[in-house]
Amino acid sequence: MSKMIRLETSKAVQFLAAGAVEALEPRVKAAQKALEEATCPGNDFLGWMHLPSSISKAFIAELNEAARVLRENCDTIVVAGIGGSYLGARAVIEALANGFDWLVADRKNPVILFAGNNIGEDYLYELTEYLKNRRFGIINISKSGTTTETALAFRLLRKQCEEQRGIEMARKVIVAVTDAKRGAARTTADKEGYKSFIIPDNVGGRFSVLTPVGLLPIACAGFDIEALVAGAADMERQTAPEVPFAENPAEQYAAVRNALYAAGKKTEILVNYQPKLHYMNEWWKQLYGESEGKDGKGIFPAAVDFTTDLHSMGQWIQEGERTIFETVVSVEQPCHKMLFPHDEENLDGLNFLEGKRVDEVNKMAELGTQLAHVDGGVPNMRVVVEKLDEYNLGQLIYFFERACGISGLLLEVNPFNQPGVEAYKKNMFALLGKPGYEAETEAIQKRL
Ligand code: PA5
Repeated sequence: MSKMIRLETSKAVQFLAAGAVEALEPRVKAAQKALEEATCPGNDFLGWMHLPSSISKAFIAELNEAARVLRENCDTIVVAGIGGSYLGARAVIEALANGFDWLVADRKNPVILFAGNNIGEDYLYELTEYLKNRRFGIINISKSGTTTETALAFRLLRKQCEEQRGIEMARKVIVAVTDAKRGAARTTADKEGYKSFIIPDNVGGRFSVLTPVGLLPIACAGFDIEALVAGAADMERQTAPEVPFAENPAEQYAAVRNALYAAGKKTEILVNYQPKLHYMNEWWKQLYGESEGKDGKGIFPAAVDFTTDLHSMGQWIQEGERTIFETVVSVEQPCHKMLFPHDEENLDGLNFLEGKRVDEVNKMAELGTQLAHVDGGVPNMRVVVEKLDEYNLGQLIYFFERACGISGLLLEVNPFNQPGVEAYKKNMFALLGKPGYEAETEAIQKRL
């Protein structure tokens, strides 16, 4: 069996009272049982749990075929989506892609761009300018099919695609990923005859990266979605309730972070030492933030990219308020090898690094930082990943998802809803005068 990701907790547990983590075992196992038996709050959104082990080869082939059509007919693919309909795909694509590939003229993969995740007029203007004269296609992703940010971008992009490429080609290079029946994205896809994929009813947005929401864009970017799913399926087995508490990484992570929270550590900072993992941080923030931040409770999920942010947030982490803990995603092996060269003059004084790999310096920065932060009173966990490939990322995704479900139940919230997200939308629609919001518009006017 391939190497599994490893969780190290000792440098976090040392900050807790003896036995604090072990004491949570019965509640963790009860949470696992509730998830498995679908007796927990939010039990109509548990479709993600056995998703990896249930994805068929035929379905992977269908996704790869849709990706082939897009890849053959497009030099650029715009993925329109927000939140759970966006972050997972971007996290995986950026973790795997050569970050400079899109600047290369004869690259073999299409450029993947993202839209519908903000309402920046300049962003949309610059994007549509960039797309002029390009052979671009669109993957329109929205479970509800009505999300304003995504719908707005899609309206602009679809029009441009039809004008630039003609109606027939546009129908070939626009793909929808949405609900089976509801929403404007479904209506448009059916009317125009776009290829479409269904987001299962029982999978919430932030748990949907292993559905076509994530898999289609990732396949379009040229990555092996079968290996991604295989990694997730192996982690599904590794985090199952039958796996003993001490050996179950999702149960351990959920237990340690909840024990830290109970001990006053209110903010968790997810740390990476690879710029490629920036969007994995963003995906994780959404997963934990939307799942746990409710009922006046929840660990605040923050994230930093080290060593970059050691030069901005490092001071705060080392010496600021002691209410934080860190979880470091550490990648054992880089994909490429680079050695520091000899320099006769040694003006920079760096000859002591001659012949060493760049990654060795990075690893010593990581170790040195961990020691310093632990000395400074910051509990530290490490999630050790062998390398950044599809298989390992699949494991990482499922590990965090499973732990999130358990952790939310330990916190005694419904980890699978997000009622708070509606508040801004209601005000925005009222302010924009959306039909049906007349009462809200009147109420809001009085407050202004
Ligand atoms: O996790 C969630 O449920 C949200 O972040 C949604 O994914 C996000 O709001 C986008 O919704 P939709 O896919 O309906 O456009």
